[in-house]
Amino acid sequence: MSDKRPVVIYGANGFSGRLVAEFLREFNISFIAAGRSRARLEEVMNHVPGIETADYEIVETAGSEEELAQLFSGAKVVCNTVGPFIYNGPRVIEAALEAGCHYLDIGGEQAWLRQVSEKWGERFAKRGLLAAPATAFMSAVSDSAARLCLESGAIDTLEILTMFKGNPTFGSTQTIFAVIQTEAYYLEQNQYKPWPRATRYEVAVPGTIQMQLALAWGGFPHPVWFKGHPQVANVRSFGGLLDRQIMEGIAATEKVFEEQIRPLPRPEQEKRLAEMASAVQGGTPPRENSREHRTIDVVVGRGSTDHVQCTVFGTCCYRQTGLIQAFAAQQLVRAAPRKVGFASAAEAFGAREILRVLESRGLSKARMSC
Ligand SMILES: NC(=O)c1ccc[n+]([C@@H]2O[C@H](COP(=O)([O-])OP(=O)(O)OC[C@H]3O[C@@H](n4cnc5c(N)ncnc54)[C@H](OP(=O)(O)O)[C@@H]3O)[C@@H](O)[C@H]2O)c1
Repeated sequence: MSDKRPVVIYGANGFSGRLVAEFLREFNISFIAAGRSRARLEEVMNHVPGIETADYEIVETAGSEEELAQLFSGAKVVCNTVGPFIYNGPRVIEAALEAGCHYLDIGGEQAWLRQVSEKWGERFAKRGLLAAPATAFMSAVSDSAARLCLESGAIDTLEILTMFKGNPTFGSTQTIFAVIQTEAYYLEQNQYKPWPRATRYEVAVPGTIQMQLALAWGGFPHPVWFKGHPQVANVRSFGGLLDRQIMEGIAATEKVFEEQIRPLPRPEQEKRLAEMASAVQGGTPPRENSREHRTIDVVVGRGSTDHVQCTVFGTCCYRQTGLIQAFAAQQLVRAAPRKVGFASAAEAFGAREILRVLESRGLSKARMSC
Protein backbone atom coordinates (compact mmCIF):
# COMPACT_ATOMS: atom_id res chain seq x y z
CA MET A 1 0.00 0.00 0.00
CA SER A 2 1.20 3.51 -0.81
CA ASP A 3 2.33 5.54 2.19
CA LYS A 4 1.46 8.70 0.31
CA ARG A 5 -1.01 11.02 2.04
CA PRO A 6 -4.39 10.35 0.36
CA VAL A 7 -5.53 13.92 -0.39
CA VAL A 8 -3.74 16.71 -2.25
CA ILE A 9 -5.04 20.26 -1.87
CA TYR A 10 -3.76 22.26 -4.83
CA GLY A 11 -3.79 25.99 -4.02
CA ALA A 12 -3.72 25.21 -0.29
CA ASN A 13 -2.55 28.69 0.71
CA GLY A 14 -5.59 30.34 -0.88
CA PHE A 15 -8.57 31.54 1.16
CA SER A 16 -10.56 28.40 0.29
CA GLY A 17 -7.62 25.98 0.29
CA ARG A 18 -6.76 26.77 3.91
CA LEU A 19 -10.38 26.08 4.92
CA VAL A 20 -10.27 22.69 3.15
CA ALA A 21 -7.13 21.97 5.21
CA GLU A 22 -8.87 23.07 8.42
CA PHE A 23 -11.79 20.68 7.85
CA LEU A 24 -9.62 17.79 6.62
CA ARG A 25 -7.82 17.99 9.98
CA GLU A 26 -11.21 17.73 11.71
CA PHE A 27 -11.99 14.58 9.67
CA ASN A 28 -8.54 13.19 10.62
CA ILE A 29 -7.49 12.93 6.98
CA SER A 30 -3.80 13.36 6.12
CA PHE A 31 -3.09 15.69 3.22
CA ILE A 32 -0.49 17.36 1.06
CA ALA A 33 -0.73 21.15 0.96
CA ALA A 34 0.49 22.05 -2.51
CA GLY A 35 0.95 25.33 -4.34
CA ARG A 36 3.44 27.39 -6.26
CA SER A 37 5.23 29.00 -3.30
CA ARG A 38 6.57 27.06 -0.30
CA ALA A 39 6.97 30.33 1.63
CA ARG A 40 3.31 31.32 1.12
CA LEU A 41 2.13 27.78 1.91
CA GLU A 42 4.14 27.69 5.17
CA GLU A 43 2.99 31.14 6.21
CA VAL A 44 -0.70 30.26 5.70
CA MET A 45 -0.59 26.68 7.02
CA ASN A 46 1.06 27.87 10.25
CA HIS A 47 -2.09 29.90 10.95
CA VAL A 48 -4.72 27.23 10.21
CA PRO A 49 -6.63 26.64 13.48
CA GLY A 50 -5.58 23.33 15.10
CA ILE A 51 -2.91 22.65 12.46
CA GLU A 52 -0.50 21.35 15.11
CA THR A 53 -2.53 18.10 15.25
CA ALA A 54 -2.83 17.66 11.46
CA ASP A 55 -0.79 15.12 9.52
CA TYR A 56 0.32 17.03 6.44
CA GLU A 57 3.27 18.02 4.33
CA ILE A 58 3.94 21.02 2.14
CA VAL A 59 4.96 20.59 -1.49
CA GLU A 60 5.91 23.39 -3.84
CA THR A 61 5.22 22.71 -7.50
CA ALA A 62 5.62 24.76 -10.66
CA GLY A 63 2.26 23.25 -11.66
CA SER A 64 2.81 21.85 -15.15
CA GLU A 65 0.61 18.86 -16.02
CA GLU A 66 3.63 16.51 -15.75
CA GLU A 67 4.73 17.85 -12.36
CA LEU A 68 1.18 17.69 -11.03
CA ALA A 69 0.71 14.09 -12.25
CA GLN A 70 3.91 13.16 -10.41
CA LEU A 71 2.73 14.96 -7.27
CA PHE A 72 -0.74 13.32 -7.36
CA SER A 73 0.59 9.83 -8.10
CA GLY A 74 -0.14 7.47 -5.17
CA ALA A 75 -2.77 9.79 -3.66
CA LYS A 76 -6.52 9.10 -3.92
CA VAL A 77 -8.16 12.52 -4.20
CA VAL A 78 -7.21 15.88 -5.69
CA CYS A 79 -8.93 18.96 -4.24
CA ASN A 80 -8.30 21.73 -6.74
CA THR A 81 -8.87 25.29 -5.46
CA VAL A 82 -6.93 27.12 -8.18
CA GLY A 83 -9.30 29.26 -10.21
CA PRO A 84 -10.52 30.67 -12.51
CA PHE A 85 -11.05 27.06 -13.57
CA ILE A 86 -11.66 27.88 -17.24
CA TYR A 87 -7.97 28.94 -17.25
CA ASN A 88 -6.35 26.67 -14.64
CA GLY A 89 -8.61 23.61 -14.49
CA PRO A 90 -7.54 21.58 -17.60
CA ARG A 91 -3.93 20.81 -16.58
CA VAL A 92 -5.01 19.84 -13.05
CA ILE A 93 -7.88 17.52 -14.00
CA GLU A 94 -5.77 15.89 -16.73
CA ALA A 95 -2.98 15.28 -14.21
CA ALA A 96 -5.48 13.83 -11.72
CA LEU A 97 -6.73 11.38 -14.35
CA GLU A 98 -3.21 10.43 -15.34
CA ALA A 99 -2.38 9.73 -11.68
CA GLY A 100 -5.60 7.70 -11.18
CA CYS A 101 -7.08 10.13 -8.60
CA HIS A 102 -10.65 11.26 -8.01
CA TYR A 103 -10.96 14.93 -8.94
CA LEU A 104 -12.85 17.56 -6.91
CA ASP A 105 -12.80 21.31 -7.36
CA ILE A 106 -14.61 24.39 -6.09
CA GLY A 107 -15.19 26.12 -9.43
CA GLY A 108 -18.77 27.15 -10.08
CA GLU A 109 -18.16 28.36 -13.66
CA GLN A 110 -20.75 26.76 -15.96
CA ALA A 111 -18.39 26.86 -18.95
CA TRP A 112 -15.89 24.81 -16.92
CA LEU A 113 -18.55 22.25 -15.94
CA ARG A 114 -19.61 21.83 -19.57
CA GLN A 115 -15.96 21.20 -20.45
CA VAL A 116 -15.46 18.64 -17.66
CA SER A 117 -18.68 16.85 -18.59
CA GLU A 118 -17.81 16.69 -22.29
CA LYS A 119 -14.03 16.12 -22.21
CA TRP A 120 -13.39 14.18 -19.02
CA GLY A 121 -16.70 12.62 -17.85
CA GLU A 122 -16.39 9.36 -19.76
CA ARG A 123 -12.64 9.04 -19.30
CA PHE A 124 -13.02 9.28 -15.51
CA ALA A 125 -16.01 6.89 -15.56
CA LYS A 126 -13.99 4.27 -17.48
CA ARG A 127 -11.35 4.31 -14.72
CA GLY A 128 -13.97 4.17 -11.94
CA LEU A 129 -13.05 7.70 -10.85
CA LEU A 130 -15.17 10.70 -9.93
CA ALA A 131 -14.87 14.13 -11.59
CA ALA A 132 -16.91 16.52 -9.45
CA PRO A 133 -16.32 20.20 -10.12
CA ALA A 134 -18.29 22.75 -8.03
CA THR A 135 -18.09 20.66 -4.87
CA ALA A 136 -18.51 23.93 -3.01
CA PHE A 137 -21.10 26.30 -1.58
CA MET A 138 -21.91 27.45 -5.11
CA SER A 139 -23.64 25.24 -6.22
CA ALA A 140 -23.54 22.00 -4.20
CA VAL A 141 -25.94 23.42 -1.59
CA SER A 142 -28.65 24.52 -4.02
CA ASP A 143 -28.18 21.32 -6.05
CA SER A 144 -28.81 19.27 -2.89
CA ALA A 145 -31.91 21.37 -2.17
CA ALA A 146 -33.09 20.87 -5.77
CA ARG A 147 -32.79 17.10 -5.45
CA LEU A 148 -34.96 17.15 -2.31
CA CYS A 149 -37.56 19.13 -4.28
CA LEU A 150 -37.53 16.54 -7.09
CA GLU A 151 -38.24 13.77 -4.58
CA SER A 152 -41.27 15.51 -3.15
CA GLY A 153 -43.58 15.77 -6.17
CA ALA A 154 -44.09 15.67 -9.95
CA ILE A 155 -41.62 18.52 -10.38
CA ASP A 156 -40.15 19.19 -13.84
CA THR A 157 -39.13 22.85 -13.57
CA LEU A 158 -36.52 24.33 -11.23
CA GLU A 159 -35.75 27.97 -10.51
CA ILE A 160 -32.63 28.30 -8.40
CA LEU A 161 -31.26 31.36 -6.61
CA THR A 162 -28.02 31.56 -4.62
CA MET A 163 -27.07 34.75 -2.80
CA PHE A 164 -24.37 35.52 -0.25
CA LYS A 165 -23.04 38.39 1.77
CA GLY A 166 -19.29 38.63 2.05
CA ASN A 167 -16.01 39.88 0.67
CA PRO A 168 -15.13 37.97 -2.49
CA THR A 169 -11.47 36.94 -2.38
CA PHE A 170 -8.85 37.76 -5.03
CA GLY A 171 -9.52 34.41 -6.77
CA SER A 172 -13.30 34.78 -6.58
CA THR A 173 -13.20 38.31 -7.98
CA GLN A 174 -10.96 37.18 -10.84
CA THR A 175 -13.50 34.42 -11.54
CA ILE A 176 -16.59 36.65 -11.31
CA PHE A 177 -15.00 38.84 -14.01
CA ALA A 178 -13.58 35.94 -16.08
CA VAL A 179 -17.01 34.31 -16.55
CA ILE A 180 -18.40 37.47 -18.16
CA GLN A 181 -16.74 36.41 -21.44
CA THR A 182 -18.28 32.88 -21.40
CA GLU A 183 -21.60 31.72 -22.85
CA ALA A 184 -24.24 31.12 -20.17
CA TYR A 185 -27.08 28.64 -20.69
CA TYR A 186 -30.29 27.65 -18.99
CA LEU A 187 -32.30 24.51 -19.77
CA GLU A 188 -35.61 24.66 -21.63
CA GLN A 189 -37.25 21.31 -22.42
CA ASN A 190 -33.86 19.87 -21.51
CA GLN A 191 -32.04 21.81 -24.25
CA TYR A 192 -29.40 24.48 -23.59
CA LYS A 193 -30.72 27.99 -24.34
CA PRO A 194 -28.41 31.03 -24.12
CA TRP A 195 -29.15 33.60 -21.43
CA PRO A 196 -29.48 37.13 -22.77
CA ARG A 197 -26.18 38.94 -22.16
CA ALA A 198 -25.69 41.68 -19.55
CA THR A 199 -29.18 41.38 -18.10
CA ARG A 200 -30.19 42.13 -14.49
CA TYR A 201 -32.90 40.30 -12.58
CA GLU A 202 -34.85 41.63 -9.60
CA VAL A 203 -35.28 38.77 -7.14
CA ALA A 204 -37.39 38.35 -4.00
CA VAL A 205 -35.23 36.74 -1.33
CA PRO A 206 -36.95 35.12 1.68
CA GLY A 207 -35.86 36.77 4.93
CA THR A 208 -35.26 40.23 3.44
CA ILE A 209 -37.71 43.06 2.70
CA GLN A 210 -35.79 44.83 -0.07
CA MET A 211 -35.64 43.33 -3.55
CA GLN A 212 -32.17 42.10 -4.49
CA LEU A 213 -30.31 42.17 -7.79
CA ALA A 214 -29.17 38.87 -9.33
CA LEU A 215 -27.34 37.92 -12.52
CA ALA A 216 -27.08 34.76 -14.60
CA TRP A 217 -23.34 34.91 -13.75
CA GLY A 218 -22.09 32.49 -16.37
CA GLY A 219 -25.17 30.27 -16.02
CA PHE A 220 -24.28 28.29 -12.84
CA PRO A 221 -23.63 24.50 -12.84
CA HIS A 222 -27.23 23.20 -12.53
CA PRO A 223 -28.16 23.18 -16.25
CA VAL A 224 -25.11 20.96 -16.86
CA TRP A 225 -25.91 18.63 -13.97
CA PHE A 226 -29.56 18.28 -15.06
CA LYS A 227 -28.92 17.98 -18.82
CA GLY A 228 -30.43 14.63 -19.81
CA HIS A 229 -32.14 14.17 -16.43
CA PRO A 230 -35.28 12.04 -16.93
CA GLN A 231 -37.50 14.17 -14.67
CA VAL A 232 -36.24 17.71 -15.26
CA ALA A 233 -37.17 19.80 -18.31
CA ASN A 234 -36.43 23.38 -17.30
CA VAL A 235 -33.70 24.87 -15.09
CA ARG A 236 -32.84 28.52 -14.55
CA SER A 237 -30.19 29.53 -12.03
CA PHE A 238 -29.13 32.97 -10.95
CA GLY A 239 -27.41 34.55 -8.05
CA GLY A 240 -25.18 37.21 -6.64
CA LEU A 241 -24.13 39.11 -3.55
CA LEU A 242 -26.62 40.35 -0.98
CA ASP A 243 -25.37 43.87 -1.64
CA ARG A 244 -27.16 45.91 -4.29
CA GLN A 245 -24.34 48.39 -4.69
CA ILE A 246 -21.76 45.72 -5.54
CA MET A 247 -24.23 43.97 -7.86
CA GLU A 248 -24.97 47.27 -9.65
CA GLY A 249 -21.19 47.54 -10.22
CA ILE A 250 -20.92 44.01 -11.63
CA ALA A 251 -23.98 44.55 -13.86
CA ALA A 252 -22.42 47.78 -15.16
CA THR A 253 -19.17 45.90 -15.87
CA GLU A 254 -21.09 43.30 -17.90
CA LYS A 255 -22.49 46.13 -20.01
CA VAL A 256 -19.08 47.74 -20.53
CA PHE A 257 -17.72 44.32 -21.50
CA GLU A 258 -20.38 43.81 -24.17
CA GLU A 259 -19.92 47.31 -25.63
CA GLN A 260 -16.15 47.76 -25.45
CA ILE A 261 -14.30 44.53 -24.68
CA ARG A 262 -16.09 41.64 -26.42
CA PRO A 263 -15.06 42.90 -29.89
CA LEU A 264 -11.36 42.54 -28.86
CA PRO A 265 -9.31 39.34 -29.42
CA ARG A 266 -9.76 36.68 -26.67
CA PRO A 267 -6.33 37.19 -24.96
CA GLU A 268 -6.99 40.94 -24.75
CA GLN A 269 -10.48 40.26 -23.29
CA GLU A 270 -8.94 38.05 -20.61
CA LYS A 271 -6.27 40.62 -19.80
CA ARG A 272 -8.77 43.48 -19.48
CA LEU A 273 -11.10 41.39 -17.29
CA ALA A 274 -8.21 40.39 -15.00
CA GLU A 275 -7.12 44.03 -14.66
CA MET A 276 -10.67 45.12 -13.82
CA ALA A 277 -10.93 42.36 -11.20
CA SER A 278 -7.58 43.25 -9.63
CA ALA A 279 -8.72 46.86 -9.27
CA VAL A 280 -11.75 45.64 -7.26
CA GLN A 281 -9.98 43.07 -5.00
CA GLY A 282 -6.20 42.94 -4.86
CA GLY A 283 -5.75 41.07 -1.58
CA THR A 284 -7.09 38.51 0.87
CA PRO A 285 -10.09 39.48 3.02
CA PRO A 286 -10.25 38.63 6.75
CA ARG A 287 -11.75 35.38 8.06
CA GLU A 288 -15.54 35.26 7.77
CA ASN A 289 -17.91 36.23 10.59
CA SER A 290 -21.16 34.25 10.89
CA ARG A 291 -23.11 37.32 12.08
CA GLU A 292 -22.22 39.23 8.93
CA HIS A 293 -21.61 36.78 6.12
CA ARG A 294 -24.97 35.16 5.56
CA THR A 295 -26.04 32.99 2.64
CA ILE A 296 -29.35 31.91 1.14
CA ASP A 297 -30.21 29.31 -1.47
CA VAL A 298 -33.76 29.16 -2.78
CA VAL A 299 -35.05 26.38 -5.04
CA VAL A 300 -38.57 26.62 -6.38
CA GLY A 301 -39.89 23.45 -8.04
CA ARG A 302 -42.96 23.38 -10.29
CA GLY A 303 -44.89 20.70 -12.10
CA SER A 304 -48.29 21.01 -13.78
CA THR A 305 -50.08 20.70 -10.43
CA ASP A 306 -47.26 20.43 -7.88
CA HIS A 307 -45.18 23.12 -6.21
CA VAL A 308 -42.41 22.84 -3.65
CA GLN A 309 -39.79 25.20 -2.28
CA CYS A 310 -36.60 24.47 -0.41
CA THR A 311 -34.84 27.39 1.26
CA VAL A 312 -31.42 26.99 2.82
CA PHE A 313 -30.45 29.73 5.27
CA GLY A 314 -26.75 29.71 6.01
CA THR A 315 -23.64 31.59 6.91
CA CYS A 316 -19.98 31.91 5.76
CA CYS A 317 -19.97 30.69 2.16
CA TYR A 318 -16.21 30.05 2.14
CA ARG A 319 -16.40 27.93 5.31
CA GLN A 320 -19.26 26.00 3.69
CA THR A 321 -16.99 25.43 0.70
CA GLY A 322 -14.11 24.20 2.87
CA LEU A 323 -16.41 21.80 4.71
CA ILE A 324 -18.16 20.41 1.59
CA GLN A 325 -14.82 19.84 -0.13
CA ALA A 326 -13.23 18.15 2.91
CA PHE A 327 -16.38 16.05 3.51
CA ALA A 328 -16.29 14.86 -0.11
CA ALA A 329 -12.57 14.08 0.06
CA GLN A 330 -12.91 12.06 3.28
CA GLN A 331 -15.83 10.12 1.77
CA LEU A 332 -13.66 9.23 -1.21
CA VAL A 333 -10.76 8.18 1.02
CA ARG A 334 -13.04 5.84 2.98
CA ALA A 335 -15.60 4.56 0.42
CA ALA A 336 -16.55 4.52 -3.26
CA PRO A 337 -18.76 7.36 -4.55
CA ARG A 338 -22.38 6.65 -5.54
CA LYS A 339 -21.58 7.73 -9.10
CA VAL A 340 -18.34 7.87 -11.11
CA GLY A 341 -17.45 10.04 -14.07
CA PHE A 342 -18.88 13.58 -14.20
CA ALA A 343 -21.24 14.07 -11.25
CA SER A 344 -22.40 16.66 -8.78
CA ALA A 345 -21.49 16.33 -5.11
CA ALA A 346 -25.13 15.51 -4.32
CA GLU A 347 -25.10 12.69 -6.89
CA ALA A 348 -21.78 11.33 -5.64
CA PHE A 349 -22.33 11.64 -1.87
CA GLY A 350 -26.08 12.24 -1.35
CA ALA A 351 -28.09 15.46 -1.13
CA ARG A 352 -29.23 14.81 2.44
CA GLU A 353 -25.69 13.95 3.50
CA ILE A 354 -24.33 17.25 2.20
CA LEU A 355 -27.08 19.30 3.83
CA ARG A 356 -26.66 17.31 7.06
CA VAL A 357 -22.92 17.88 7.36
CA LEU A 358 -23.45 21.63 6.90
CA GLU A 359 -26.23 21.66 9.48
CA SER A 360 -24.14 19.64 11.93
CA ARG A 361 -21.52 22.45 11.95
CA GLY A 362 -24.12 25.22 12.22
CA LEU A 363 -23.32 26.47 8.71
CA SER A 364 -26.77 26.09 7.13
CA LYS A 365 -30.24 24.67 7.57
CA ALA A 366 -32.69 23.61 4.84
CA ARG A 367 -36.45 24.13 5.13
CA MET A 368 -39.00 22.58 2.76
CA SER A 369 -42.38 24.21 2.10
CA CYS A 370 -45.22 23.38 -0.28
N1 LIG B 1 -18.17 27.70 -5.97
C1 LIG B 1 -17.94 28.30 -4.81
O1 LIG B 1 -18.78 28.38 -3.94
C2 LIG B 1 -16.56 28.86 -4.57
C3 LIG B 1 -16.24 29.22 -3.26
C4 LIG B 1 -14.95 29.72 -3.05
C5 LIG B 1 -14.06 29.88 -4.11
N2 LIG B 1 -14.45 29.51 -5.36
C6 LIG B 1 -13.53 29.65 -6.50
O2 LIG B 1 -12.29 29.04 -6.15
C7 LIG B 1 -11.21 29.77 -6.70
C8 LIG B 1 -10.22 30.12 -5.59
O3 LIG B 1 -10.85 30.98 -4.69
P1 LIG B 1 -10.11 31.48 -3.36
O4 LIG B 1 -11.11 32.25 -2.62
O5 LIG B 1 -9.45 30.38 -2.64
O6 LIG B 1 -9.01 32.45 -3.99
P2 LIG B 1 -7.61 32.92 -3.45
O7 LIG B 1 -7.64 33.17 -1.99
O8 LIG B 1 -7.19 34.04 -4.33
O9 LIG B 1 -6.64 31.65 -3.68
C9 LIG B 1 -6.31 31.22 -4.96
C10 LIG B 1 -5.25 30.11 -4.85
O10 LIG B 1 -4.93 29.70 -6.19
C11 LIG B 1 -3.52 29.85 -6.41
N3 LIG B 1 -3.29 30.21 -7.80
C12 LIG B 1 -3.86 31.22 -8.51
N4 LIG B 1 -3.43 31.21 -9.78
C13 LIG B 1 -2.55 30.15 -9.86
C14 LIG B 1 -1.78 29.61 -10.92
N5 LIG B 1 -1.80 30.14 -12.15
N6 LIG B 1 -1.01 28.53 -10.65
C15 LIG B 1 -0.98 27.98 -9.43
N7 LIG B 1 -1.69 28.46 -8.38
C16 LIG B 1 -2.45 29.54 -8.61
C17 LIG B 1 -3.09 30.92 -5.46
O11 LIG B 1 -1.71 30.77 -5.23
P3 LIG B 1 -0.70 32.02 -5.04
O12 LIG B 1 -0.87 32.48 -3.62
O13 LIG B 1 0.61 31.42 -5.32
O14 LIG B 1 -1.13 33.09 -6.03
C18 LIG B 1 -3.93 30.55 -4.23
O15 LIG B 1 -3.35 29.48 -3.54
C19 LIG B 1 -11.83 30.95 -7.44
O16 LIG B 1 -11.98 30.58 -8.79
C20 LIG B 1 -13.20 31.10 -6.80
O17 LIG B 1 -14.14 31.67 -7.65
C21 LIG B 1 -15.69 29.02 -5.61
